[in-house]
Amino acid sequence: MKQSSPSAPILLSPPHLTGEERLFVDEAFRSNWIAPLGPNVDGFEREMATHLGGALHACATSSGTAAIHLGLVLLGVQPGDLVLCSSFTFVASANPIRQLGAEPVFIDSDDTSWNMSPAALQRALTTLAREGRTPRACLAVDLYGQGCDYGAIEPLCARHGVPILEDAAEALGATAHGKPCGTFGDIAALSFNGNKIITTSGGGMLLARDEAHAARARFLATQARDPAPHYEHSTAGFNYRLSNICAGVGRGQLMTLADRVARRRAIFARYQAALGAMPGVRFMPEPWWSRSSRWLSTLTIDPASAGCTRDELMHALAEERIESRPTWKPMHMQPLFAGTRMFAHDPELEPVCERLFAHGLCLPSGSSMSNSDLDRVIAVAERVLGRTPVRA
Ligand SMILES: Cc1ncc(COP(=O)(O)O)c(C=O)c1O
Repeated sequence: MKQSSPSAPILLSPPHLTGEERLFVDEAFRSNWIAPLGPNVDGFEREMATHLGGALHACATSSGTAAIHLGLVLLGVQPGDLVLCSSFTFVASANPIRQLGAEPVFIDSDDTSWNMSPAALQRALTTLAREGRTPRACLAVDLYGQGCDYGAIEPLCARHGVPILEDAAEALGATAHGKPCGTFGDIAALSFNGNKIITTSGGGMLLARDEAHAARARFLATQARDPAPHYEHSTAGFNYRLSNICAGVGRGQLMTLADRVARRRAIFARYQAALGAMPGVRFMPEPWWSRSSRWLSTLTIDPASAGCTRDELMHALAEERIESRPTWKPMHMQPLFAGTRMFAHDPELEPVCERLFAHGLCLPSGSSMSNSDLDRVIAVAERVLGRTPVRA
């Protein structure tokens, strides 16, 4: 763990490399496998599938977004289709739905997991069924290192014949109902963006239960070239494969995953121990069926009792060169998706994800953070949260 100087910036979730990655990257240089295929790509796919229990088939991609896009194509999403999607997420979950000409129908979160509300999902499925519509897919997003309540979501979707695409971009290393995130649904997507728990600088992976899906993903991800000695194409494909160099970084990173999860969980525990009992402060809960990777330590601040708003805390941290970020702005609130349908957790109340966005903050959570960095963040938070409440 690096000890930073007292005024050095503290970032939200920077890459954390060990140097082991170089062994695989150097081998790529030595063997001249400088291409979007090669032994590191095959090895990374094999090792990830093994890590996740051995039952899945993997296709490494140039990004998590590419894996989601491919996953939706494999599930047959077409123009005019409806796709259910968590509203509380990063835009990369929802963009590929629109890019395929389909319409997202957004689903609120619940308070226990901050992820897709099974109650809202059930209402969406039955309402759409009454309208004679069956969504082509359900894109369930595992946020901030926590899986969705698949114990409830899987049977609901199965009853309505709706396949699940698990967006596990933020949740590698977590489990839900005893199973690793990335293994739920028909297809799952991972991200290895620079801010994720392990990184390839940029990259992702599609994981499929069905080997034919993974084979089709590899075909589509390499320009959908038909078997012929010349260049023959009968399908529009993509250039979505991960490079052999990036996959080498991923192989080295994967060896550290358990340590990364342990450190992120320890960071969360330290924040919670220091700040969790302060008035108006509520950390992201971890339900009984979840073991979160705590990719990002997130909390909400109720200004009525905390003595400050989320934005005041964020600005106070920024003054000390500490990066923090508001939680995701829900998709149904985005200008890009204005007018789209959203099913709330409780139709009588403000949607849960709107409240989580209004008051939620992500604290620095990088696994390379030192304890003295953590103390710097905590000291600022204690000072700002300890002020007189805005309203008694
Ligand atoms: C929930 C979620 N989905 C998808 C993505 C997209 O992954 P990538 O940046 O690798 O395209 C990200 C992160 O960037 C994410 O946080």
